[in-house]
Amino acid sequence: MSRAVLSKSEIISQIEQQSVASRADVKACYISWMKGIVTDPKWMLIPLDDHMVHRGDGIFEAIKFINKKPYLLEQHLERLRFSAKSLSFDLTKLDEDIAEIVKVTLEASGLENGLIRMFISRGSGSFSPNPYDPLKPELMIAVLKLQPPSPLFYENGVKLGISKVFPKESFWAQIKSCNYLPNVLMKKEAIDRKLDFVIGQTEMGELTESSTENFMIVDQKGLLVRPLKDRILRGCTMVRAFELAQKHHIAETFERALTLKDLLSAKEIMMAGTTLDILPVTEVEGQKINQGLVGPIAKKLNELILKDQTSN
Ligand SMILES: Cc1ncc(COP(=O)(O)O)c(C=O)c1O
Repeated sequence: MSRAVLSKSEIISQIEQQSVASRADVKACYISWMKGIVTDPKWMLIPLDDHMVHRGDGIFEAIKFINKKPYLLEQHLERLRFSAKSLSFDLTKLDEDIAEIVKVTLEASGLENGLIRMFISRGSGSFSPNPYDPLKPELMIAVLKLQPPSPLFYENGVKLGISKVFPKESFWAQIKSCNYLPNVLMKKEAIDRKLDFVIGQTEMGELTESSTENFMIVDQKGLLVRPLKDRILRGCTMVRAFELAQKHHIAETFERALTLKDLLSAKEIMMAGTTLDILPVTEVEGQKINQGLVGPIAKKLNELILKDQTSN
């Protein structure tokens, strides 16, 4: 391995030679410190002294777009502003209008449908954790192809487990920050256990959410129920599914603490999230739910969300 101090042309050549297959999905990326958009993902670069890199001091959002229109954009931006306020990020220090940058980056991507991944960092220029260092927030917006879950998941349902990873405290759970290590471990746990998702459980036995998805149930009374909001991220998909369920008289909606007992006795369980919409669950810790069949409400809500995306 070479330890040579690289020349400018050698650095450029190293960047050009990178080959990370999945990066090809990224079609455009706005990077505020570069003052523009790169369309070659090899140049999707962020400095090592950026506080998002060395302290997780950043916030983010993922937004689906259909026919070039971001779905639930305002709801995602509202959550972004909430995350920013909670962590004392001063978004007025951003030079750009976020919605405007979303629009131009989307246009530059040439994609009709896909995913927008948006990050705001505290800024770069020091290696300390101090947010009072002279920093200016940086905005990064990547627009990429979305690889949707296999249709088999929607036909057969997915398998759930209960996580051993301790869920985040209320303050952290409600913020979409770049400090996602518990979520990372939950994802690992699900894969290691050959499950599709695991759900967090608090010290009181209350179920929270999966690594990047919410869950809802249809209880014994036929109510559509989601967990209380204090230990989960307020998922835009889950909230929209509730609105659609009310509007189309699919089921009455309710919010309450949910336990494993509720899960195992549920008529239906479903996952909700930007990249998967509404995904039915047919097994929890090896026990079949609804005799292992996809339930009608999960199916209907997924159809309504998909329709909502195209009529958006
Ligand atoms: C922890 C967590 N919960 C739930 C969700 C689902 O939220 P949304 O429906 O807005 O994608 C996400 C999304 O990434 C998440 O990170």
